[in-house]
Amino acid sequence: MEKDILILGIESSCDETAASVVKNGRSVLSNVISSQIDIHTLYGGVVPEIASRKHVERINQVIGQALADADVTLEEIDAVSVTYGPGLVGALLVGVGEAKAIAYAAGKPLVGVHHIEGHIAANYLEHPDLEPPFLCLVVSGGHTHLVRVLEYGKFEIIGYTHDDAAGEAFDKVARAIGLGYPGGPKIDKLAKEGNPHAIEFPRAKIEGCEYDFSFSGVKSAVLNYLNGCEMKGIEVNRADVAASFQQAVVDVLVGKAVSAAGKLGEKRIAVAGGVASNSALRAAMKQACDEAGIALCYPSPIFCTDNAAMIASQGYYEYMAGTRHDLDLNAIPNLKIGQR
Ligand code: KG4
Ligand code: ZN
Repeated sequence: MEKDILILGIESSCDETAASVVKNGRSVLSNVISSQIDIHTLYGGVVPEIASRKHVERINQVIGQALADADVTLEEIDAVSVTYGPGLVGALLVGVGEAKAIAYAAGKPLVGVHHIEGHIAANYLEHPDLEPPFLCLVVSGGHTHLVRVLEYGKFEIIGYTHDDAAGEAFDKVARAIGLGYPGGPKIDKLAKEGNPHAIEFPRAKIEGCEYDFSFSGVKSAVLNYLNGCEMKGIEVNRADVAASFQQAVVDVLVGKAVSAAGKLGEKRIAVAGGVASNSALRAAMKQACDEAGIALCYPSPIFCTDNAAMIASQGYYEYMAGTRHDLDLNAIPNLKIGQR
């Protein structure tokens, strides 16, 4: 029998300090996430300088806990994988610096991982039969992409957002209707009490770019609607606004993903990123995929938002493919998918 490969994953690209040990790319032995949401909520969004400082304060303890929960020592780890982009540069640097120090001190290989490739890999953690090729709809706070996953380390971007990311639009609309940060889960909850067809918000189409997205229009339409109501003295039904906005975003995401899968002959769609835990998106994707005969998967909510198990999973496939980074590995805030 082949030896098990244990990867220590480290993630610090935004406001979650996370570490995890994953076996053979698929089996999560530990998953520790220290969220900074409480602090950033006070400011209505992530404050980069505070994020970096909090990562510094917490990262050692988070890594220690991940090793303890997995009941393994550093000596037993085969490689250290870490998010090195994209993300907030000061936040990324904390994880990258820590990973380099551990790799050097323990004499372990260092494997840098792309954050979004990690989000995609989150799907491997609970779907043992999922293997490339498949189509992935990546919907996070900073990114919205339609990606063909050709191999574990080979990606083709077929669509991307021209302005706001889906999660960013959720967060901005949530702020406008007074729900606070992070807005996605709050809109998801409030929308359950509203009518998704109460207000007709726009579904953006981009001429000549069939699979690209634009969410700034729907966000502006919500802001205009709210201003209009205020000027006319009409009381706003926030649940209807949340539900109608969410429906507009979900319609576009599902429509483009399912149509792309059909045209490209993809038999399976995986959804990834924080917005993948949205209940309306999941329900609409399931219905559309069932109708089109396409298999669908998405991670549990804890693996949709930022975590280090997804970084350890992608790190495993990079490690097996021979990827090794030197101690001059740097944080790359605008790292592109597939960039090596
Ligand atoms: O993937 P993630 O943790 O961070 C990035 O890499 O950006 O995604 C965070 C985003 C936030 O914009 C948050 O509002 C959104 O995911 N989100 C949701 C839900 N849960 C998190 N959006 C809609 N519905 C949700 N249930
Ligand atoms: Zn993320």
